[in-house]
Amino acid sequence: MELIDGKAVAAQIKKEIAEEVAQIKEAGGKTPHLAAILVGHNGGSETYVTAKVRTCEEVGFKSSLIRYEEDVKEEELLACVERLNNDSDIDGFIVQLPLPKHISEQKIIEAIDYRKDVDGFHPVNVGRMSIGLPCFVSATPAGILELIKRYGIETRGKHCVVLGRSNIVGKPMAALMMQKAYPGDCTVTVCHSRSQNLKEMCLSADIIIAALGVPEFLKADMVKEGVVVIDVGTTRVPSTLTKSGFKLTGDVKFDEVSPKCSYITPVPGGVGPMTIISLMRNTLLAGKKAIYK
Ligand code: GUN
Repeated sequence: MELIDGKAVAAQIKKEIAEEVAQIKEAGGKTPHLAAILVGHNGGSETYVTAKVRTCEEVGFKSSLIRYEEDVKEEELLACVERLNNDSDIDGFIVQLPLPKHISEQKIIEAIDYRKDVDGFHPVNVGRMSIGLPCFVSATPAGILELIKRYGIETRGKHCVVLGRSNIVGKPMAALMMQKAYPGDCTVTVCHSRSQNLKEMCLSADIIIAALGVPEFLKADMVKEGVVVIDVGTTRVPSTLTKSGFKLTGDVKFDEVSPKCSYITPVPGGVGPMTIISLMRNTLLAGKKAIYK
């Protein structure tokens, strides 16, 4: 069994991005600039956005954090999106989700100029991704592909089971793994909360990507010997063992599943560290106008 070290891969890519940014600046090019809109004081969102802004600094990007209180009006947010769309210094921006209930996330996402949508959530990017055109691929699926690539894991012709059908992970992951490409060329099955034969599907899988958000859902009796397991779960489970009072728990019962695996990602330290790096990569691509002119 080989552990997939997302933390180490992310650190390596961060170095690569920082080097490229330094070269761009040296050549007199434009410093990539990422803006983030954060609404309210959701603990998880605060943590993620802070980490995104910090990583921007570490790789040499400019960053702008725009904050609104929980009671911000939808029109105000739409006006902010419009402002960022038209600001030529901003190469890419994100609106941290979730948004308060009175705001339509879909409406906000669709208002973002797809050429600056470094989260890859806009329907133009989602559509282009699903038909294999250059686009911004959302951070978690892009990070998983990068891990598979850097570990040289064979995917061609394999049976890949994706657990979960979210717009952010399950659906894009399934589309990417079936793409005529490497990583890709898989036979893909998507299972979700309504699937009746989930265990049988998992038992026939060469690769399982678990993104259900159900802590320790995948057990040893659901996987075959030699399987590759990618664990996307990050549920905060109360714990008396940590200072913070919670423990980040994946969708895989790691202790019993890992001995059967050829490769497995741990939680934390697997997929998680890759997601912010994928956002940085997309911002660099946006800055270079590498995808859209
Ligand atoms: N909330 C959880 N994950 C994400 C993400 O990747 N991007 C944004 N904008 N919000 C999120």
